[in-house]
Amino acid sequence: MSETQTSPILVTGGTGTLGRHVLDRLRGTGLDVRVLSRHPHDPSEGIEYVTGDLATGDGIDAAVAGARVILHLAGSSKGDDDKARQLVAAATRAGSPHLVYVSVVGADRVPQDGRLDRAMFGYFGAKLAAERVVAESGLPWTTLRATQFHDLVLKVAEAMAKLPVIPVPSGMRFQPVDSGEVADRMVELALGAPAGLVPDLAGPKVYGMAELSRGYLQARGKRRLTLPVRMPGKAGRAYRAGENLTLEGAAVGTRTWEEFLAERVR
Ligand SMILES: NC(=O)c1ccc[n+]([C@@H]2O[C@H](COP(=O)([O-])OP(=O)(O)OC[C@H]3O[C@@H](n4cnc5c(N)ncnc54)[C@H](OP(=O)(O)O)[C@@H]3O)[C@@H](O)[C@H]2O)c1
Repeated sequence: MSETQTSPILVTGGTGTLGRHVLDRLRGTGLDVRVLSRHPHDPSEGIEYVTGDLATGDGIDAAVAGARVILHLAGSSKGDDDKARQLVAAATRAGSPHLVYVSVVGADRVPQDGRLDRAMFGYFGAKLAAERVVAESGLPWTTLRATQFHDLVLKVAEAMAKLPVIPVPSGMRFQPVDSGEVADRMVELALGAPAGLVPDLAGPKVYGMAELSRGYLQARGKRRLTLPVRMPGKAGRAYRAGENLTLEGAAVGTRTWEEFLAERVR
C-alpha cells in the first residue's frame, strides 16, 4: 500500500452541516478520514476523531499529523481568519498537505469600511482574510466560494417566524445553494490537484428575502406581517447591489429552495 493510500484526509468542521455531507461522501471512497472537533467523539464507521480547537491551536498538531489533504470546513460567525492561521501554522510544521478551503461568495466584494459594516458583515472580512492566509501559506491550496446554504436560510426563517412581525431587509437578494451539492464539489476538489481559487458555486435561483420567508411560512402553514427595513452602511449597499450573488462564470447547483423546503419542512 502506498503512503498516499494510508495518509488520512483531515476534515475540520466534519461535525457541521457541510462537514456531515462531506463525510457521507468520503465514507464510500475507502480513504482514511480524520475529523477535528472541539468535542470528543468515539470513532465510527472508520472515521477517527481528534479533539482540538482552531481558536486556540490546542490539539491541532495532532490533528494535522501525516495528513495529505486537509478539507478546512470549520467556521463560525467570527474569527475564521485566526482559525486559518492556526491551521496553516500546524500544517506547515507537519509537511505540505493540500489545503482545501470553503469561503463565501462576496468575501471580496462586501466592504468592511466602517464599524457598522464590520459589526454586521464582519464574517465576510474574516473569510477574505482566511482566504489570503490559505493562498499565502506556501502550501498547495484550493479555495471554493459558495453562496448561503439552504440550511442557513431555513434557520433564519425559523427564527424570524417566532416574531409577530418579520423584519425584511429591502433590496437584499440571496442565491441559496444546497449544502449536499457544495459537499460534492468539495470532495471533488479534495481528490483532485491543487487548483487555487476555483469558480464560485451558487444556487440555481435568486430570491428576495421576503420571497424566501414567504416560502417558509407557506410550507409551515403560517401567516406573518412583514416590515421592510433598510440595512445601513456600505456593506448594506453592497448587498442591495447584489455583491453577495454570483451571476456570471459560476457553477450553479440544481436543488432549489422550494425543493429543499418540500423535503425538510412537513
Ligand atoms: N452556512 C452557509 O450558508 C455557508 C455559506 C458559504 C460558506 N460557508 C462556510 O462553510 C463552512 C461550514 O459551514 P457550516 O454551515 O456547515 O458550519 P456549521 O454547521 O456551523 O459547523 C461549524 C463547524 O465548525 C467547527 N468549528 C467551529 N469553531 C471551531 C474551532 N474553534 N475549532 C475547531 N472546529 C470548529 C464545528 O465543530 P465542533 O463544534 O465539532 O467543534 C463545526 O463542525 C464554514 O467555513 C462556513 O463559513 C457556509
